This record gives sequence, C-alpha cells and structure tokens, in this order.
Amino acid sequence: EPTAPSTGSKREHWSGQTAFILAAIGSAVGLGNIWRFPGEAYDNGGGAFMIPYLVALITAGIPILFLENAIGHRFRGSAPLAFRRISRRAEGVGWWHVAICFVIGLYYTVIIAWALSYFFFSFDLAWAGDPAGFFNDEFLQLGEVGVGLDFVPGVLIPLAAIWAVAIVVLALGVAHGVEKLNVIGIPLLVATFGVLVVRALMLDGAAQGVEALFTPDFSALTNPDVWIAAYGQVFFSLSLAYGVMLTYASYRERRSNLTGPALVVAFGNSSFSLLAGLGVFATLGFLAAREGVAVADLEGIAGVQLSFVTFPAVIAQMPGGQWFGALFFASLVIAGLTSLISVLQSVSSALQDKFGWTPRRGALTVGLTSATLSMLLFGTTTALYVLDVVDQWANQVGIVVGAVAMIAATLWFGRRGRELARHLTVLSSVKVGRVWLVVVNAVAVLLLYMLVDTTVRLATE
Ligand code: PFF
Repeated sequence: EPTAPSTGSKREHWSGQTAFILAAIGSAVGLGNIWRFPGEAYDNGGGAFMIPYLVALITAGIPILFLENAIGHRFRGSAPLAFRRISRRAEGVGWWHVAICFVIGLYYTVIIAWALSYFFFSFDLAWAGDPAGFFNDEFLQLGEVGVGLDFVPGVLIPLAAIWAVAIVVLALGVAHGVEKLNVIGIPLLVATFGVLVVRALMLDGAAQGVEALFTPDFSALTNPDVWIAAYGQVFFSLSLAYGVMLTYASYRERRSNLTGPALVVAFGNSSFSLLAGLGVFATLGFLAAREGVAVADLEGIAGVQLSFVTFPAVIAQMPGGQWFGALFFASLVIAGLTSLISVLQSVSSALQDKFGWTPRRGALTVGLTSATLSMLLFGTTTALYVLDVVDQWANQVGIVVGAVAMIAATLWFGRRGRELARHLTVLSSVKVGRVWLVVVNAVAVLLLYMLVDTTVRLATE
C-alpha cells in the first residue's frame, strides 16, 4: 500500500458536511448550468427534454455520483491512489481522470478570464453596437491573423489573475482554501444569479422566451441523439468521471452520510440549471421581441456565443443593462472559479498522494505548469480553434472512457461492488442495495454504446 504522508490518518478534511456539500455543488454548478443546459434543452425537445434529462439523472447521474462518493471515501485517496488501492493495475484509470482534469483546467480558466474582462467591460458597455466584432476582432484579435502565436494582452492579464487566485486557493488547502471559496462563493452566486433571473423575467418578451424553452416537442423522445445529449449533460454537469467528486469525497470524515449529501448536490445542481434556463430564455425572449423575430430565429443561444456576443447585445439594449451585465459576468466568474478549483484540486491531490507533497507544493506545481501552458495556448490568437477541438474530445470521448474504466475497475475486475454497496449503506440516510449495483452495471453498457456513437461522429465531422 502506498502511504504518502498526506494520505494516512492526517489526510486533510472538510470542516463538516455542509462545507463538503457546498464544495461539491460548487464543482457541479458551472458554465455547464448557465450556458450549456438551456441550449441543450431547447435544441433537444424543449419541455420534453425534461424527461430524458430526469431519466439520465436518476439512472446514471445519481448512481455514479454515489459510486464516486463510495470509492473516494472508502479508499481515502485522489483518483490514482483510490484506484490503486482497489487494484494495482487500476491506478492508470485514476491518472486518466487526472489527465482530463488537467486539460480542462487549461481552457476553463480562459473562459473565466474572458468573463472577468467582460465584467469590467459591462460598466461602460465597451462593445457598443457591435458585440460580435468587438469580441472577435478587438478582444480576441482573431481578425486577419487567424490561427497564430500572437499574444493578446487583453486576454493574458485576466488569465494571469485567475491563475493567481487559483494557486492561492489551492495552496491554502482543503479546509482553508477550497472550502472557504465555496462557502463564500456559492451563496453569493445564488444571490447574484437569483437577482439576475428575477430581472430577466420582468423584461418585455420574457414570457415568449420561457415558452420557447419549455414548449415540448415530444417527437424528440424517439431520437437517440436527444437521449445521448441528456446523458452527456448530466455527466458534465455533475462533474462525473473526472475524479473530482471522488477526490472531494476522500476528504470527508470517516463516519459520513454518503448518499444524503449526494442527493442534495444533485438536486441543487438541477435546480440551478432550471433557474438558468428561465433566466437565459427570458432574456432571449426580450431580444427576440426587440428585433421583431421569433426566438427560434435567434442565433448564438448557447456557449461562447451566448455569453460573449448575444448577451452583450441584449445588455446594450436594456435599461440598466450595465448592472445586468455586471451581475451576469460576475455569476460566470464565480460559477466558473468554484468548478475550476475542483478540477485543479483533483490534479494537485493526485500529485500530493503520489509524491507525499504538501498542498502548497501541489498547488504551485499544477498551477504554474498549467498557467504557462494555458497562456501559451489560449493567450494567443489560436484560442477559439483549440478550445473547440479540445472541449469536444475531452468532454465527449475522454470522460466516457473514464466512466467505463471506473466502473470496470471497481465492479468488473476489482470486484469491489458489494463492498462499496455496503459502504454506501452503513452510515447513509438513503439506503442503496443490489438495485444500485445493477443500475451502475447497466450504465456502463449504455456508455459503451455512446462512446462508439460519439467517436464515429467526431472523427467523421
Ligand atoms: N460541472 C461543471 C459545469 O457544469 O460547468 C463543469 C465541470 C467541473 C466538469 C468540474 C468537470 C469537472 F471536473
């Protein structure tokens, strides 16, 4: 058994259950809720999407969240160490998760940096009447250069700032850094975002926007792609198969209720997604009414376009738009930071467990390496292109591989299924048993199917 100093009885821990719950919600609630969920729901059946979404949540999201909680808590380690304790040959599964986190950290930071710049731009509506031109040409300087290595100072400076914050938070450790960030950040996020949504719902045209989002198209239910989108959304949104929830669970006290808090996290995360759906589509409804078009005719209703082109356009046309903009981009920054920290902690924790490093050394190593790489890759004019490709492969193929490998290593080859089921039951408020095991096995089969489907699609695109 590898026993590095930080993994024994002295393993860091959260100050309590609430702190853990807030940190896990912090990881789950991120850009995926604000700019991914509403667009996915709209594109995949609107109101009818709630059916595959709930099915995915119940049949895969919650069971896998339980699994990660059980593994991290039972084997008391970051992903590589926990899997190594299951079987020497499984350590690689953990490093796979860590590698994906490392990659995601590189570009998640960039988006937070953009949002930070836009927070400041909001106050004087820097993009004036041309948000798209401002974003592409002035801000990212994509203009004539296209793909190249020209550094863009407007992006580099906020990027450096975000990395500095991340390194400090990680270096302070689980209880003093990660936990503090979330205990302050999550309530603050709920407050800022709540105000934003209420304001959005009072805009002219809000009702049409919300109606466009929730009008059900039941024919979508027979389309397998809609179901794949639902499972993909649930995995990404609950930060599953990244080793992140597993790592967070490894910092819980030995005697912990595992299933109850996991359910709170899942419920909180989905509630935030719904709230975001309301807010985003109410705002889009306002824009459509302004422009005299139907919501269906709007472009840029998700992702980078939504946040950095469409929203700025709305903000410029809205009374008090500056404040709306500031609240929106502040929300993105907070939601993003708390997710970012979880991904980086997963990497740092793995290195601490492997080499017996202190949190500080882990933070500096991960932070400085990633900061340099992310500035080289994304502080330059190649940004948008790299972002897209990396995002698709890491999030659509990488994590499905990671999820299947995790299940295979614990339940199929490691044969730890019953032990984990028992572990989940002993101290937990919500008891799971055989059914849970059957469901997790079934999920793995489903994921294998998704994997083939997505790989073929991405490779032929
Ligand atoms: N769950 C986050 C979101 O929905 O934005 C994204 C994320 C965070 C994914 C952390 C993976 C992760 F490890």
